[in-house]
Amino acid sequence: DHNKLALPVGTTLDRFIMRKQEDFPYATGELSQLLRDIALAAKIVNREINRSGLIDIAGAYGNRNVQGEDQQKLDVIANIRFIRALRNGGEVCTIISEEDEDMIQTGNDQGKYVVAIDPLDGSSNIDVNVSIGTIFSIYRRVSPTGRPGTSADCLQPGTHQVAAGYVIYGSSTMLVYTTGNGVNGFTYEPSLGEFFLSHPDIQTPKTGAIYSINEGASDTFSPGVVAFVKHCKDASFSARYIGSLVADFHRNLLKGGIYIYPATGKAPKGKLRLMYECNPLAFIVEQAGGRSSDGYQRTLSIEPKDCHARCPIFIGSQDLVEQAEAFMAQE
Ligand code: AHG
Ligand code: MN
Ligand code: MN
Ligand code: MN
Repeated sequence: DHNKLALPVGTTLDRFIMRKQEDFPYATGELSQLLRDIALAAKIVNREINRSGLIDIAGAYGNRNVQGEDQQKLDVIANIRFIRALRNGGEVCTIISEEDEDMIQTGNDQGKYVVAIDPLDGSSNIDVNVSIGTIFSIYRRVSPTGRPGTSADCLQPGTHQVAAGYVIYGSSTMLVYTTGNGVNGFTYEPSLGEFFLSHPDIQTPKTGAIYSINEGASDTFSPGVVAFVKHCKDASFSARYIGSLVADFHRNLLKGGIYIYPATGKAPKGKLRLMYECNPLAFIVEQAGGRSSDGYQRTLSIEPKDCHARCPIFIGSQDLVEQAEAFMAQE
């Protein structure tokens, strides 16, 4: 069947989506259209990021978001672009965004999907030309169509995701996503305006020798985290921390490694948000053969309490996350 028939490197994203849609005989094409809408917004945001130094859209926007963070202009621009693309695409009834306190109703009450999105991840890196990203998570609504989405539509556990992905605006711009049948990576060719399959069927290494954690907070780490970080040093791992979750995650996905954002003094529940940072990356890493938890519980099975809920995350190579969990259990 098509699933086995690997599509060749160089296949365009459009063709890939179409061929994979054929694998789902009852697919009506809405999810395919939704993925295309996200890719379109990514192309637009990519262009604005690449010229942000030239037109005055770098720097702070002068607003604080619900997270209490100083919004960067590109945070706001990316948020507007993705919400507009999803609204115009017609498939999404409701959106949760890091940059908006309340869920956003698109007006597409017939839409069958809900999207949780981090429109721009790694905002502190925008003005210093370091890789940043977008992270998205897609659910089917549970409430009947014909009316706006509800919080029950939005607060579903990660196991209910139908798709998840990220865009990394780095030395090249890539779209990496899963619909539950493996993970595929597409590289953007700006001169053609197309994403091309460049990393088919990504499998993350079972183990690795990279650990990513902000050790500036190590005085407030719990004993299990302190012990695991020491274990990494004793094993002569490389410390790699870019400060953009998408960039750190993507490197570890391809090379093997573990990313940890634990509970710290400043962030007692961790800093990363469950709905639009932890769950989508946890879905991707599991589809690629890796593992993700809060140190104790599988990330995807955490019951969301509110759309901006934070949780600790230990994510990456199966063996490394299991080792970290063993240290957490001995605390
Ligand atoms: P965002 O820019 O979407 O708010 O996310 C920032 C996150 C993540 O990208 C990064 O890994 C982490 O914050 C860095 O946090 P610290 O500066 O506390 O290490
Ligand atoms: Mn932010
Ligand atoms: Mn983020
Ligand atoms: Mn963000």
